[in-house]
Amino acid sequence: MNETMEGLKRSIYCGLLTDEYEGRQVTLTGWVNRRRDHGGVIFVDLRDREGLVQVVFAPEMGEELFAKAESVRNEYVLAVCGKVRKRPEGTVNPNMATGDIEVMVGDFRVLSTAKTPPFYIEDEIDVDEMVRLKYRYLDLRRPQMQKSLFLRHRVVKCMRDFLAEQGFIDIETPVLINSTPEGARDYLVPSRLHEGKFYALPQSPQIFKQLLMVAGMDRYYQIARCFRDEDLRADRQPEFTQLDVEMSFVSRDDVLTTTEEMIARLYSQEFGYEIKTPLPRLSYQEAMDRFGSDKPDLRFGMELINIAEEVKDSDFKVFRQVIERGGNVKGINAKGCAGYSRKEIDDLTKFAGIYGAKGLAYFVITAEGVKAPITKFFTPEQVEGIVKKMQGEPGDLLLFVADEPSVVAASLGHLRLELAKQLNLVDKNEINLLWVVDFPLLEYDAEEKRWSAMHHPFTSPVEEDLALMESDPGRVRACAYDLVLNGVEIGGGSIRIHRREVQEKMFNNLGLSQEEAQEKFGYLLDAFQYGVPPHGGIALGIDRLIMLMAKRETIRDVIAFPKTQSAMDLMCQAPSKVEAKQLRELHIKTTSSPSK
Ligand code: AMO
Ligand code: AMP
Repeated sequence: MNETMEGLKRSIYCGLLTDEYEGRQVTLTGWVNRRRDHGGVIFVDLRDREGLVQVVFAPEMGEELFAKAESVRNEYVLAVCGKVRKRPEGTVNPNMATGDIEVMVGDFRVLSTAKTPPFYIEDEIDVDEMVRLKYRYLDLRRPQMQKSLFLRHRVVKCMRDFLAEQGFIDIETPVLINSTPEGARDYLVPSRLHEGKFYALPQSPQIFKQLLMVAGMDRYYQIARCFRDEDLRADRQPEFTQLDVEMSFVSRDDVLTTTEEMIARLYSQEFGYEIKTPLPRLSYQEAMDRFGSDKPDLRFGMELINIAEEVKDSDFKVFRQVIERGGNVKGINAKGCAGYSRKEIDDLTKFAGIYGAKGLAYFVITAEGVKAPITKFFTPEQVEGIVKKMQGEPGDLLLFVADEPSVVAASLGHLRLELAKQLNLVDKNEINLLWVVDFPLLEYDAEEKRWSAMHHPFTSPVEEDLALMESDPGRVRACAYDLVLNGVEIGGGSIRIHRREVQEKMFNNLGLSQEEAQEKFGYLLDAFQYGVPPHGGIALGIDRLIMLMAKRETIRDVIAFPKTQSAMDLMCQAPSKVEAKQLRELHIKTTSSPSK
């Protein structure tokens, strides 16, 4: 029995067959999606990456061949040769792209048989993701998964085309490098030749792309794999892909404009959707004040409203004391939620607690006035003032948190998102893009008692804040920007420091001694002595962008072979133990139980 393609050549993909082929002899290849035995005639939906087509096996093909057709099962791989015909009246399937035709099989080969797969190969399956990941090659046969990977391919191609037109060139940077500081933990690779030494996998190509600017490449891009050993979430993977871009002789707006034009091209090409540019820009401060987040979702309102002025003289100690200590009291208006039960409010309180809120005070506004246990601490005028500031109306539920500003922002910011979900406030078809700009350069790490870079240590301070670097580092703004799509950070970048003395100052702010800076980043500081163009750039998270474009909930769905939340590859079982010999060669001893 011939199980090869010897002597056969596919004429066309199954899913692309049209009635133009009527009467023609074709050769198709694919997987058996479904097989129906109609006593004497066998119908098979043959599937390939472009879709399905019905092929028909009838006894006229000869007894032996037909007997073989009867043995065919789901997911067998077939090559069929036959004649395309219009389906007989009454059997046309309008739900199928190729539903008005079928192929009468004259001859066929079983190229491969298949075990019964652990789940059906169709879009609407209810299968544990762990099983999908273990059998990823089967999961990827599902049309929805294939669609996402095709989308990804087109988006990346569009990016490449756009950037090439704009004079950017694609340059690869190494994967075995020294640690790059993007704030996460490094993945390390032990060196065999240099005992006791390690390479780090890049968290991003940051320093290399800057050195390419020093080298005069002027405009660089790369579809770069990045590695970060951090706690994973739905939109984070330990290895992920960036569109990494850097350009010389530019200021902030040049980078923003180039990025906007590219994103607009993507949406126009993919969906025929026109994105209005320039995109809105929000300062970090405003984003935090109004939405409690540096990646605000502006598809709905429910902004955070400051009521400090209204409550500072009240008898409610919780609020007053927080204000006296320099904290914030803010609220959000959950419109129409006055009917929430005690339990529902308790659940919201617990939810706010995850982000540090010590409580969640509330006003229920009814037609008869405000009902809440805490109204007794306020005069009627104060209650009225609060309701007015919150634009409260009968039927609304006002929720308040008093705490230090970061806790108020985090708890109300997340509560806002949670309520939007519960109340279905988000139009899933809306595309909301904005820039968040003017980030602080530094943030204080109370645990480590030192400043750290909010973006990364190579980000330039805003020119007019340079003088504050020594006197008031917390107030220095960075020339950094994030691109936010529907409340997800899909990109970030900055104008870089290109002067050695500023870079040294920055390292100094970060608590690195001159020796440490030289040891870690000496090659960059050295390069900065040889003529550096002002430069800046950005990196877009491709997985996240595709996730949003494909309307998926997790980036795992748009990565061919992703890892689980615990950073495992369930299919190939990575990470795994290695041979003792390999460890010896690498000069490594593990403290866990030895490998075989
Ligand atoms: P940043 O760290 O902001 O910047 O990363 C850029 C973008 O990459 C995406 N991203 C991730 N996607 C999936 N999984 C992850 N673990 C993950 N981490 C980040 C995000 C993010 O906006 N070198 C700088 C860029 C620059 O300054 O030019 C950098 O890496 O969408
Ligand atoms: P207590 O006086 O602690 O019983 O709190 C009275 C109400 O205020 C309860 O509804 C608490 O949830 C709420 N509350 C307590 N602390 C805070 C806080 N820091 N911010 C907002 N509400 C609070």
